[in-house]
Amino acid sequence: MPIRRECPWNLPDREATPESVFLNRRALLAGGAALGAGLLAAGGTAQAQGISSWFGGSRTLYGAPEEDPSHKLYPVERNPKYTLDREVTAEEHNLTYNNFYEFGSRKTIAKAAQQLKIRPWTVTFDGMVEEERTVDIDTLLAAMPLEERLYRLRCVEAWSMAVPWSGFALSELVTYAKPLSGARYVRFETFLDPEMAPGQTTGSFGYPWPYVEGVTMAEAMNELSFMVTGAYGKPLPKQMGSPLRLALPWKYGFKSIKSIVRVTFTDERPVSFWEQIQPSEYGFWANVNPEVPHRRWSQATEQVLGTDERVPTRLYNGYAEYVADLYKDMDGEPLFM
Ligand code: MTE
Repeated sequence: MPIRRECPWNLPDREATPESVFLNRRALLAGGAALGAGLLAAGGTAQAQGISSWFGGSRTLYGAPEEDPSHKLYPVERNPKYTLDREVTAEEHNLTYNNFYEFGSRKTIAKAAQQLKIRPWTVTFDGMVEEERTVDIDTLLAAMPLEERLYRLRCVEAWSMAVPWSGFALSELVTYAKPLSGARYVRFETFLDPEMAPGQTTGSFGYPWPYVEGVTMAEAMNELSFMVTGAYGKPLPKQMGSPLRLALPWKYGFKSIKSIVRVTFTDERPVSFWEQIQPSEYGFWANVNPEVPHRRWSQATEQVLGTDERVPTRLYNGYAEYVADLYKDMDGEPLFM
């Protein structure tokens, strides 16, 4: 039985703040933190309105962690194949507007996320592999061919960014892990440490920690699937999911699991974190499709962070040429939630 719990996105329609009310309230609120709380309560597309203007104050920016020994690896060469149809989002927006529920449910989570201890950090490969092993993150980084890619990120909440990620293809990680031929899925798991990450304590919405995500082996081997270790030419800031996160640019952002400690190969489809919480709204596939609305808001357009623009959302977030074939002959699967 899937667990059904309330999550911040799971507000009844009557509680979602209409855009006009939200924009008025924005004018009244002075501080970014207060606005952050308002955004959370607003739900849906209204959450992303007017974000361009609330970074203006003297907010501290928490960038690449000083204690991260991987500084010397960056910047890495950009792969020109992965370009964008829009400007890269200014770094300050990415540093200050995040989802990282392990540290709380606000968008202004950057300061709280500095509690994340990023060294020592290991990644365990287990399940259907030739040999289970646990590898130190710096050993892993040294073994992987790092490159930079410009990717769009489309959150299910109808906001988007364009990010210069550094990292390596997920297919490289799969090869490194040596899965058995019967493995059909890759399951990813975030750390579990409620002392360090207070969002994981019992009672905080009763969420089913640790955060889990999964993809099929075919998705994992797709050239777009990317393991992120850095951003903006530097090691990954903690609030963005240091030291290792996933980027699946054709799927809604909640699939991009942060701060990964375990990669498991399995023949059973993983039940991801949000799917456990609210299976009628957040599925396994979560491919971006403007024509399939969320149960409580439209997905037709998106607010581009750092601008006052709302732009049309594209099928597979504009990456159909790379991924559409993965889903042919899959009629009946809820591919877009
Ligand atoms: N990974 C973990 N472990 N915890 C989270 O709360 N939030 C997800 C995803 N990965 C989340 C996570 C959601 S909902 C989104 S939209 C993206 O991270 C946000 O990434 P960003 O904060 O770098 O923009």
